[in-house]
Amino acid sequence: MIHYASETKTFNLWLDTSFYVFQIDGEGRPVHLGWGLLPEGAGAADSLRGSVYADSYDTLLSFYTQYRPDEVLAFGEIITYQETLKVHFPSLSQQPDASEALHFPVRDLRLRYVDHEIVTDAQPGLTPLREQPTQNAAPRETLRLLLRDPAYPFYVTLCYRLTPEHDVIERWLELENRGDDAVTVESCNFASLHLPNGHQELTTASGAWAREFQIQRERLKPGLRLVESRALQTGHASNPFFFMNRPEQAWEDSGVVYFGQLAYSGSWRLAFEQLPTGQVRVHGGYNPFDFGLSLAPGERHVTPSFNCGVCREGWGGASRRLHAFLQERVLPRSANWSGLRPVLYNSWESTQFDINFENQVALARRAAAIGVELFCVDDGWFGSRSSDTSGLGDWFVREEAFPEGLEPLVAEVERLGMRFGLWVEPEMVNPDSALYRAHPDWVLHFPGRPRTEARNQLILDFGRPEVVEHIFKVLDDLVNRYRVAFFKWDMNRYTSEPGSAAGREIWLRHVAGVYSIMDRLRRKHPGLEIQSCSGGGGRIDAGIMGRTDQVWLSDNTDAFDRLAIQEGFSMAYPARTMEAWVTDSPNEITQRPSPLALRFDVAMRGALGIGSNLNRLDEAELAAYAEYIRFYKRFRHVVQHGKLYRLQRLEEYGTSMILYVMPEGREAVYSLAIRDFLTGKHLPQAALRGLNPTAVYSVRDWHGDEVYRLNGTELMTLGIPREPNLVAGYSRTLYLVQIEEQNYV
Ligand code: GLA
Repeated sequence: MIHYASETKTFNLWLDTSFYVFQIDGEGRPVHLGWGLLPEGAGAADSLRGSVYADSYDTLLSFYTQYRPDEVLAFGEIITYQETLKVHFPSLSQQPDASEALHFPVRDLRLRYVDHEIVTDAQPGLTPLREQPTQNAAPRETLRLLLRDPAYPFYVTLCYRLTPEHDVIERWLELENRGDDAVTVESCNFASLHLPNGHQELTTASGAWAREFQIQRERLKPGLRLVESRALQTGHASNPFFFMNRPEQAWEDSGVVYFGQLAYSGSWRLAFEQLPTGQVRVHGGYNPFDFGLSLAPGERHVTPSFNCGVCREGWGGASRRLHAFLQERVLPRSANWSGLRPVLYNSWESTQFDINFENQVALARRAAAIGVELFCVDDGWFGSRSSDTSGLGDWFVREEAFPEGLEPLVAEVERLGMRFGLWVEPEMVNPDSALYRAHPDWVLHFPGRPRTEARNQLILDFGRPEVVEHIFKVLDDLVNRYRVAFFKWDMNRYTSEPGSAAGREIWLRHVAGVYSIMDRLRRKHPGLEIQSCSGGGGRIDAGIMGRTDQVWLSDNTDAFDRLAIQEGFSMAYPARTMEAWVTDSPNEITQRPSPLALRFDVAMRGALGIGSNLNRLDEAELAAYAEYIRFYKRFRHVVQHGKLYRLQRLEEYGTSMILYVMPEGREAVYSLAIRDFLTGKHLPQAALRGLNPTAVYSVRDWHGDEVYRLNGTELMTLGIPREPNLVAGYSRTLYLVQIEEQNYV
């Protein structure tokens, strides 16, 4: 609910368990008053009047004005600390005298209240097309607060869209130049968040290729802590989400936690700032690094959103809110959406570049026989792509590998009852390719300067509309021709020499180009599904999730390493989007062997995929794969739609114990995996969560055998009975189903 108390000009944003309040001060500036949890029992009628609290900042000592928590911190009046937005006006309409002219351009923006409206269904920038279906399309209230600079007709609309049931507010800015001169935007966050003093404990994820999503926890010191990407994609080094709480006042299960995530896949930045006063701010948006945006007269720019919220149920509660928000409001539903992610087979680890019709058909037959539903051919099927040195950009079939074209393989995959998927890396080109030879000017570069290659490839310049159009056409043709049901959309390098036809705006235009191609493809082919991949987990965020169905988390498929990567991912993103493969042992990257049970138990925590070389497995192994896949299909709706509880985190005991639960505790999936066995230590008892205490549960193992019959209260107090085989690499998945009480003997 959004309520405006006109007598004190106070805006109340009320969500199910939290509030957000700000006020227009005597000068017309929106000033933050508070954000936190509502007292239990507070009703809508109890909204805050604010009693002219905001003006108190002006009456304090002169140095204190710099601490005023403006809702949008506009560079000019307040510059001592980080700004939300900085623009410059080349001149003003009135002609200054010569000596005044020396002071141009004007780097001073004042934003004063003009008007506000409360609307439904306002959209942040770069959201997928409105008609793209999501699970929940119920309209949401949005506050739009119109502000303008008193001297120059530059308007900024501050937007707040509420999803009360998850306590999430999406924040964004709309910039509009109604003047006669171009306005240059020097930096632009989507929002600045003001947290109550003392919320200095910060949780983020950092990583690298094959080691994504490693959780970091630290205490902010006075000053700035930056988490960012300086690339055209989200990056492996950090991910745009965070949790913040009072130091040691929040844990997995309890405590007040503020959380946030950016819905953007390009060069982003989160700046965590602690002022000397103890005030804590989080600024999130476009990375000011090499940033460029200019608004011509009449032009508008709408930023993507910074999604944020607060809850009292600890980090676990923050994760569950983000999961539910993304599942219901962000993830697309293709026309093929059955409610469940299919079991996928991908050929990359089996055949790498050595792919041909024979080995792919053999893999497809075995995959179908063990229960796979979607067969994806990876890199190497096109152009002259027999290694990573050539062919990228030439999206026609490699004849040497598929002399009859891809059609016979597609037909066989479909005959076997599976859908057909294809790997593509549309933003890239190898210099050794027909595309590059025809269009050497289509790549990012500076004239007369070297073009640095990475993995032997260059980046196409999405600042040129004809390049974006070309890529759309190529992918559209592939879908039409091969009935592609699934693209694995990859991006395998970082940026260098960002010279583009779009100048510095390339950082924005690249992301907008990628999104627009995906959106157009999905609109034209409503059954098409897409997976986001960037050398593993380099493009995972709430923006890409608006137009992709799942993400590739890491090229590292070692089950031991994967536990930490998956746990970090689970902080912000739902299991349904997490494609996870069972691959061969020893692992290709780490050379570490691991038991088949562990590999399945870890991969079954997300959207299960198989990457093993099925052509080399014997009958007994194939039978075991088939039995695991059958088991997974019985409970995958619980993993893909249930609530996640992290019962035991890796960081304490090297053991991960998680639970997925359906509403009212109807069904649950329990998963235990021991990464490090700590000799002499006893694992703590892990009481299960979210079950029905009065129901009786049949607890079944992967053969479908009932291993325990326990009631909800037993499970939610004593937990699953102590496991007998506690050694590193031990794992277990159990499926809990409620049974009728009268059958309980
Ligand atoms: C990237 C992906 C892999 C695979 C290769 C193919 O590394 O993350 O899964 O598709 O590219 O070249």
